[in-house]
Amino acid sequence: MRKQIAAANWKMNLTLQQAEALVDELLATPFSLNENQQAVFGVPFPYLIAIHNKFIGKNNCYVSAQNCYTKKSGAYTGETSVEMLTSIGITYVIIGHSERREFFNESNAMLAEKINCCLSNNLKPIFCCGEPLQIREAESQNSFVETQLKESLFHLTVEQITNFIIAYEPIWAIGTGKTASNEQAQQMHKHIRTVLANNYGLDVANTISILYGGSVKATNAGDIFAQPDVDGGLVGGASLVAADFAVIINSLKK
Ligand code: PGA
Repeated sequence: MRKQIAAANWKMNLTLQQAEALVDELLATPFSLNENQQAVFGVPFPYLIAIHNKFIGKNNCYVSAQNCYTKKSGAYTGETSVEMLTSIGITYVIIGHSERREFFNESNAMLAEKINCCLSNNLKPIFCCGEPLQIREAESQNSFVETQLKESLFHLTVEQITNFIIAYEPIWAIGTGKTASNEQAQQMHKHIRTVLANNYGLDVANTISILYGGSVKATNAGDIFAQPDVDGGLVGGASLVAADFAVIINSLKK
């Protein structure tokens, strides 16, 4: 069975004190993860070490960066390399979130470079894709997402793609309170899996976890995660409330 994953994306929120208090509260809240389930915490750069330390010894909990740079090292003031992240024990990085694509002009080609950097350093990418509202309204979401996958991922080998997590996040559902319906989520996740299967074979496609993101809440996580091709969620707003995120973790498929 594919890994079932509840991934938090804290974005640019919380002070260090608030972040530590959030983790303390979560760890004091009953939630459980079996060996096939994971909780991943997408944490702002300055808090990575502190939050990573809080999860040491906590089974199936991992810390993720929210971005990295395309180059290994050098004169790139203000950027963070993949090697820096692995050197502090980080295992995951969110790549290509729609906010980075929109506000920082990250193209599919640039994301391909970031992914290459991650994979050559054993950092697992959580690769985000998803369409804006006008594309959904034009019913072109399938080809839009397929192009995102092709241009950023399809140069990878079978071995490399199996290290992946994909997050489908329709942009019109992010932070809007407007979740994709269970059917819309399932249809797109199935489409993504079919596109992966066409390139890498069904066996490979069936091993890749595809998370849904966009207004996942404690109240709707169970229904969305129950869809056959939805393997958990990438959660923004609701991951900032310990009790809500604990419910979301407990909503993962067993
Ligand atoms: P949201 O954000 O859960 O607040 O909609 C999801 C995301 O952007 O990853």
